[in-house]
Parts: sequence; C-alpha cells; structure tokens
Amino acid sequence: MKETVLQRFEEVFGDSRSATVFFAPGRVNLIGEHTDYNGGHVFPCALTIGTYGAARKRNDRRLRFFSMNFEHLGVMESSLEELTPSEDADWTNYPKGVMWAFEQKGMKLPCGMDLLLYGTIPNGSGLSSSASVEVLTGAILREFFRFPVTNQDLALIGQYAENHFNGVNCGIMDQFAIAMGKKDHAIFLDTADLSYEYAPIELKQAKIVIACSNKKRGLGDSKYNERRSECEAALADLQKVVSVNSLGDLDEAAFEQYQDAIKDPVCRKRARHAVYENQRTIRAVEALKQGDIQTFGRLMNASHVSLRDDYQVTGPELDTLVEEAWKIPGVIGSRMTGAGFGGCTVSIVEEGAIDGFLQKVGEAYREKIGYPADFYVVEIGGGPEVCQAPSSAE
Ligand code: GLA
Repeated sequence: MKETVLQRFEEVFGDSRSATVFFAPGRVNLIGEHTDYNGGHVFPCALTIGTYGAARKRNDRRLRFFSMNFEHLGVMESSLEELTPSEDADWTNYPKGVMWAFEQKGMKLPCGMDLLLYGTIPNGSGLSSSASVEVLTGAILREFFRFPVTNQDLALIGQYAENHFNGVNCGIMDQFAIAMGKKDHAIFLDTADLSYEYAPIELKQAKIVIACSNKKRGLGDSKYNERRSECEAALADLQKVVSVNSLGDLDEAAFEQYQDAIKDPVCRKRARHAVYENQRTIRAVEALKQGDIQTFGRLMNASHVSLRDDYQVTGPELDTLVEEAWKIPGVIGSRMTGAGFGGCTVSIVEEGAIDGFLQKVGEAYREKIGYPADFYVVEIGGGPEVCQAPSSAE
C-alpha cells in the first residue's frame, strides 16, 4: 500500500522521496450505539483497513490535496489563509477542519503541505472514513510540527473539527477508537469521563464480519442531530424529577421509575434505548471478560432490536442484513453498527459458518433490496502510525 500511494504521489506532486507515509485506521463498534453523546459506554475497535496518507511540507502556505478515492476531483488547492468550510472543498473539509482546529487551540501551522490520501475503508459506509482522515491529519501535523499532543488529544481535536467545522454534532467514539486503537483489543470507553480499558477480543473459532449495505449515508444530512436533540429533551424532562447529568447515569430500574416524566412518547423511546443500551454494553463487556461469547452475541442482537424499534435508525437495508444473519447457525451475534440509516452491520460468525453467511445473507439481500451488499472479514488493528519516513532529505 505504501508503494501504491508513493507512486501516485510521484505522479501527482512529484519527488515522492521527500514524502512521509502515514496510516490511520477505520473503526467498528461492537456494542454501545448512540450512547456516546448520552454519557454512556461504547465498545469499538480499530480496524486494519483505514486511510493511508503521503504528505510533504511546503515552503509556502499553500495546501494541495489529492485523493485516490476521488480521482475525478483532481488536485484541490487551498491555503492556510482559507481554513473555512465550503461545499466546493468536498472531502478536503476534513483535513482542513483539523488544521483549523489545531490553530483554534493555539498551535499555528508554520507552512502548508501536499497531501495525497488513499482509503481502504468504503466511503460513507459507517466505518468512520471521515474520522480516520481527521486523526490521520492530526498525526501528520504532530509529526511535521512537533506539536505536544497525545493520541487522546488527536481524538478530541478531530471531534472538535467535526462538530465546529463540519457541523456534525457527533460524539467522541469514532475519533477515540481510531486514535487509541490497539491490535486485537476493543476499547471499553466511558464517554462521561473518558476513562477506558482495553479488552482483548479472543473470539476463538469466530471472526468479525462486516456487511456493508451500500446504502450511502452522510451524517450531516441524516437524522443524527435530530436523535441527539430528542435525547436532550428527554434528559431535560428527567432532570425535573431526578438529579442526573446524562442518560448514562440511569440504570433500567431508575428509568422505569422516572420515565413518565418524559412528556413526548417519541423522546421517551429514544431515552429508553440510550439507558438500556448503556447497561447492555456494560454487561456485554463483563460477559466477554468471562469468556462468554454467546451472551455477548445475544446482547448484540438485543442492541439491534432496540435501535430498530426504540431508536428507529435502522431501515430495511440494515434490518434485512441482520435478520437474515440471525437465521444462520453459527452466527453468534449481529447488529447494525455506527450511526445507522444505512452503512454497515457487524456480526460475530463461527469460522465454519462464514462461507454460508456470505452466500445466504448476500443472496437474500440482493433479492429483497435490489442491489448487492459487500462483505469484509476484518481484523482489529492499532492506532495512527508513520509507515515510512522520507527516503531523501527535504
Ligand atoms: C456516529 C457518531 C458517533 C456515535 C455513533 C452512534 O458514528 O460519529 O459519535 O454517536 O454514530 O453510536
């Protein structure tokens, strides 16, 4: 992959020997969905697929971007004087947003750069291709300009850029999972205080299979921000009768006791999901620690039902993928992952059942939805890294 991006860099920008190659992963969330902006727990992991970037500092303040995933856009030019979001800037709003965020936080960029990207994550699939680009950009700026930032800072800066530059009110999960990724481990993160613990994922004879619905979604134009406001409205009602900082402070019993305080029945359903999903996540990680993968899988299935019925973020594409998966012996658990409204499902499948899974779920999906799904058997990888230093001095 390094060779591929360096070769393209040579063709697009010239002198690839002066470029550094970086990598940042994508992520998949195993359980704990739509809990990260409700003070709850999440359990994502970084993947070995992600975004490669070849970058080189410039002697002026210009920025030149090129993506091998959007070849038709050609070289997109900008400068450090133009760090404002615009529709024309397309995907370059993600790296520009991170540059802007560094400057907002007092880390001024001394010069521009040439940056070429190649992503091995399907775009808009819900595996966080945008957060991957954000963390990658942060890792490049840190390396080039020696800014004193930790990987956790890279996650927070990426989220800041997403919220304030790109206008998506996302939580911290994606950027955190990517910046803090650890090979063969998932991250049990409490989003209320960012305390976290790595849990080894030892699935014995099983693998993580991602099914991509190929129904594109963009967080900006989805109902993501609406769900967030519904949860905020529910919390405001609850706070009139019980002292809590977030929905994550409630367990199931407390929710049942106070739920009538939530006036709007839709907001009540949304809050029920947030509370129950958080408790499910805590229980799922506990089960995994005991080596009880079957319970983990059952909790994944329950998570999907709650996202389908109470949170209403699935839709026929994701429901078909999951409901077909549930029919197959050897599927330990299956659910939608990420924001929903399209994107991917994540399943834990016994190795001997994978071929049948790909075939049966694939056929049923094509028949019902009318176009094919894509499948990926994935591995859990580490966080951002420098893959190759420049081979010549600048
Ligand atoms: C998106 C957001 C995350 C999280 C998930 C839902 O991926 O970026 O912050 O809210 O949706 O769990």
